[in-house]
Amino acid sequence: MCGIVGAVAQRDVVDILVEGLRRLEYRGYDSAGVAVVNASGELTRLRRLGKVKELADAVAATPATGGTGIAHTRWATHGEPSERNAHPHLSSNITVVHNGIIENHSPLRDDLKAKGYVFTSDTDTEVIAHLVEEELKSAGSLLAAVQKTVKQLHGAYGTVLLDKTDPSRVVVARSGSPLVIGLGIGENFIASDQLALLPVTRRFIFLEEGDVAEITRHSVSIFDSNGNAVEREVHESNVSYDAGDKGQYRHFMLKEIYEQPHAINNTLEGRLSRDSVLDETFGNGAAELFKKVKHVQIVACGTSYHSGMVARYWLESLGGISCNVEIASEFRYRKSFVQPNSLLVSISQSGETADTLAALRLAKEAGYVGSLTICNVAGSSLVRESDLAFMTRAGAEIGVASTKAFITQLVGLAMLTLAIGKYNGLTDAQQRELTEALQSLPGKLEQTLALAPQIEALAEEFADKHHALFLGRGDQYPIAMEGALKLKEISYIHAEAYAAGELKHGPLALIDAQMPIIVVAPNNDLLEKLKSNVEEVRARGGILYVFADADARFQSDATMRVINVPHVADILAPIVYTLPLQLLSYYVAIIKGTDVDQPRNLAKSVTVE
Ligand code: M6R
Repeated sequence: MCGIVGAVAQRDVVDILVEGLRRLEYRGYDSAGVAVVNASGELTRLRRLGKVKELADAVAATPATGGTGIAHTRWATHGEPSERNAHPHLSSNITVVHNGIIENHSPLRDDLKAKGYVFTSDTDTEVIAHLVEEELKSAGSLLAAVQKTVKQLHGAYGTVLLDKTDPSRVVVARSGSPLVIGLGIGENFIASDQLALLPVTRRFIFLEEGDVAEITRHSVSIFDSNGNAVEREVHESNVSYDAGDKGQYRHFMLKEIYEQPHAINNTLEGRLSRDSVLDETFGNGAAELFKKVKHVQIVACGTSYHSGMVARYWLESLGGISCNVEIASEFRYRKSFVQPNSLLVSISQSGETADTLAALRLAKEAGYVGSLTICNVAGSSLVRESDLAFMTRAGAEIGVASTKAFITQLVGLAMLTLAIGKYNGLTDAQQRELTEALQSLPGKLEQTLALAPQIEALAEEFADKHHALFLGRGDQYPIAMEGALKLKEISYIHAEAYAAGELKHGPLALIDAQMPIIVVAPNNDLLEKLKSNVEEVRARGGILYVFADADARFQSDATMRVINVPHVADILAPIVYTLPLQLLSYYVAIIKGTDVDQPRNLAKSVTVE
């Protein structure tokens, strides 16, 4: 949620900050702001309701220069989206931007008001600015004032502060919301995501929980939560990002859908032998750990939770071990029973989802035999805090609706099934078969992408619909859930998914000609059962859209449109059948005229509860 960029440089940094915000806009996009200080200590602050473009236009129209500055793109938590609630917030000489939530903002606000501070916004963030100003009265420096302030804050923050009377430095603090320092030559930067800083540097320091740092043009001093000076490793980034370039595509989401065969090639590269998954795939010590594992507990949110649900079918039917999957926000607040030799697997595109991270931290205390994260962002909190990490290598995903990150998570989870299964009865022949299937996957996805024109035509029929029902059975049930999530996220059509066997237990009551029913129907053991469910819908006047294997022998007619999906091995079916559902939601969203890459009310990375 929200994005932060900051800089301490000799040159004018306004354009760097605004470009950084543009690159972070996918994280939050209801308002944006920038504040810069020039060498004479003159501060210019500009804020706008709406997207970064509004701010960029304001910057173009209003001369603002300065070598030290901070900027923010907001996803509202406290206080409606508006210019007065947009960051940066001020308190006399102090300027602040903040990601996260200050849970005790209300009593802090009352104390500060009693001391005479005047609040000009409804945000929790503004208390930070006033607290730092208050602490600065007795602390000898901005750094000391911030160190004293953060001790009073409960909740989550990634925050950057500057004091206009000393433009030579910014002070930053991290607890629960990521911050990364970008190292330049004679200039340094700060951001909530390295993507923001790639035009100016590739050398990064990832701050750790509780860190407070002072950044000047020539130095970076980092202190841990006890105030001890600490060294943090410098990482050379090889992340690529071409934010300005959607290529031939109208939206990032479409580009990312089409990138999926290539992304999977990257996910697989160097990780498979001819007939098994290589031991090193999950990192040092993975093989030793997997030998001990007798149960897998998966935690994740949203789309990542759906990939976990698919993995449960695979781990139990092929991997030979039991598996539970739980939404992280539920898992973290429930007393759960830890099975002996249980591995905690977190799944996350961003690696920063607050609930998933909290679940991992709790699990570390709870007696799990180890933790593994399946993640797309190197250096993210989940990657750093897990014992093992499998990087999905999908490349930066900019569209808020997750597509290639989901598909590559599934590939990683299929490999995990192989890696664990070989210690639990998965035969050599099965391993070879699954390995060959995975290697054929990019080609199968290329074939499936060729269905796009048919799906685009089909999408027309959803133009006037307000509801949709997705049906699947077995490992296609989570794919139906993912299809429903995609449709509601980007087209705002209300969509539900059901395990098809549940229809007669209630949802059949919804069926009429106004309720499109989308069915995912590979030719597997459950096909005949699914066909019976399809007939139940037809008998009640429902209009069906069936994505099926040609061998499944569904026929298009007045009440059923059939799209034939390439025949694939059972293990690949959840991955391949995801793709037409992504395309369907994309084309429906185009017809509905929604903001596909940045749907209303959402943010790419949910770093608050
Ligand atoms: O970064 P994560 O995978 O942990 O994010 C979890 C969800 O917020 C995310 O998958 C969300 O559901 C997407 N918008 C789905 O498209």
